[in-house]
Amino acid sequence: MPDQPANPDQKLQLEFNQWAERGEGEKMERHHLDITGKAIRLMDLRPGERVLDLGCGAGWATRLLARLVGEGPEGFGQVVGLDVSDEMIRLARASSRDFHNILYVWGSAQQIPWEENFFDKMLSVESFYYYPDQDRALSEIFRVMAPHGRIFILINLYTDNPYSLQWVDKLNVPVHVRSEAEYLDLLKRHAFENVESRRLPDDTPTPDDYQTKSFNNLEDLRAFKKIGALLLMASKPDLRTPAPGYKVY
Ligand SMILES: C[S@@+](CC[C@H](N)C(=O)[O-])C[C@H]1O[C@@H](n2cnc3c(N)ncnc32)[C@H](O)[C@@H]1O
Repeated sequence: MPDQPANPDQKLQLEFNQWAERGEGEKMERHHLDITGKAIRLMDLRPGERVLDLGCGAGWATRLLARLVGEGPEGFGQVVGLDVSDEMIRLARASSRDFHNILYVWGSAQQIPWEENFFDKMLSVESFYYYPDQDRALSEIFRVMAPHGRIFILINLYTDNPYSLQWVDKLNVPVHVRSEAEYLDLLKRHAFENVESRRLPDDTPTPDDYQTKSFNNLEDLRAFKKIGALLLMASKPDLRTPAPGYKVY
């Protein structure tokens, strides 16, 4: 690990390594499970599919995905969990020893160490707004997705949920703060098709004695959950044009 971050990805690595050391990797399951479960249901996963979990953190969602695509009549599915924090990857590997269809990879969303046209589905939970160059990350996502592959980007920080803006100043790394409309436009500019979005409210109750450092008070936290997270969905078009008389496999 570098002492001084030389580039934005290394800064993210150092920051999220500290999150991992503080036990935040596992704790995020509690905060993100309700909305992630709703997103995963919309992914309509099938046994045999190849899935990327981009910014997988401690790997709890990766394991949910792996259970859904594992062995079945349509083959063996596999999930790749990728994260810029090597400490998160260590946590994820340690908790996933019983899974034979997960591979955790240390790397950046801006340079995904994988071959093109590979993944059927991609999930990214609470990670996309950290990527220093979102255009570059989207180009990479486009490259590694299979034709007709569908992506699901879930984010809690966006301007249409004004309560989410309370934590921007509390973060130690820069983030993108965009609107739902801006994100939809960004995906279309990257040539994704069937671009759509949904709001996913977090239906978990907030107890009166809940302690929060991220929100000004519990009423703001409850209002934030009610508006909910933004789920962006899009598909990679099939750009392969077969020569006359040839079939594309
Ligand atoms: C808020 S955490 C969410 C982790 C996990 N998806 C979850 O819900 O528990 C954000 C994650 O994104 C990762 N991340 C941030 N920037 C990244 C980048 N450029 N490439 C890959 N991962 C990144 C962080 O290391 C961190 O694990």
